[in-house]
Amino acid sequence: MRVRPRRLRRTAVLRDLAAEVRLSAAELIQPHFVLPGEGARQSIDAMPGIERQSVDLLVEQVKADLDLGIRAVLLFGVPSGEKHPDGRGAFEGTPLVARAVSALREAFDDRVCVVTDVCLCAYTQSGHCGVVDARGEVVNDATLPLLARMALAHARAGAHVVAPSDMMDGRVGAIRDLLDAEGYSETAILSYAAKFASAYYGPFREAAGSAPGKGDRKGYQADPRDGRGAVRDALLDEEEGADMLMVKPALAYLDVIAHLRAQTDLPLACYNVSGEYSMVKAAARDGLVDEASLVVENLVAMRRAGADLLITYHAREALRAGWIS
Ligand code: PBG
Ligand code: ZN
Repeated sequence: MRVRPRRLRRTAVLRDLAAEVRLSAAELIQPHFVLPGEGARQSIDAMPGIERQSVDLLVEQVKADLDLGIRAVLLFGVPSGEKHPDGRGAFEGTPLVARAVSALREAFDDRVCVVTDVCLCAYTQSGHCGVVDARGEVVNDATLPLLARMALAHARAGAHVVAPSDMMDGRVGAIRDLLDAEGYSETAILSYAAKFASAYYGPFREAAGSAPGKGDRKGYQADPRDGRGAVRDALLDEEEGADMLMVKPALAYLDVIAHLRAQTDLPLACYNVSGEYSMVKAAARDGLVDEASLVVENLVAMRRAGADLLITYHAREALRAGWIS
């Protein structure tokens, strides 16, 4: 036998040298759930180790995370109080997430990249990602200006990147146009470009209080059976001016990451979503798997499929525990 694949597997150093992908803090994005008020902190039953926090505690958390090497955050608002049919709490006045953005920019300026989720579902009475008509349908075109106003509020507060997750057609273009018209041509758009209607979002909806009251999101999020359609949708976002694309969830959609990677030269992110996180935590808690190895293996799979950036709830623990160095 001349050809022996095992030669390069013999020692840890050889394996490191031969590795096709690597993991580091530089490509990790840590999600955060932002509460109104001060000194507020709530654990999330479905997501052990993850909390909702008010802006003051968020700043402290991001400081600690920065010391671990986490240089990018993704913010979700968890508003209290009344929700409106049009989700106006997301964009009127100085919304919660905009206040969080200002505080983070003040504390860290450009040392931390602040990405904000742009979607109405935590703010609408219906719990849907857009406005709903009399028949209960989520109306595409009437939702676009509202999303654009939400993105503008975040950009004004200093967000480096806005990330629309609503899956309305044309939202990237609508957001880009309003940002440009208002003088925010430097604010980047990370589009949740191929976002599937997924049961893996279950724990998140508890965390963010964003579950639809009636119906589901299958009328706007991509169908898990239609991978090619999702790639086509993602490429439209590129045409509309997205600066970075995302596939979400990650693990059940590694094929979509790989296909999209082959068709775009934009930076590609994937979202290792709440259900993926909670499943690993539950299996580890029950002693079924070794958490450190499982997390690293999952994140490596996402990188190998072609994702450059990994949005993951595991980021903090993976660095703190030294699973990733
Ligand atoms: C809101 C939004 C969701 C997630 C991110 N943004 C939930 C949904 O679409 O229902 C899911 C994130 C996660 O599960 O970790 N549009
Ligand atoms: Zn939404």
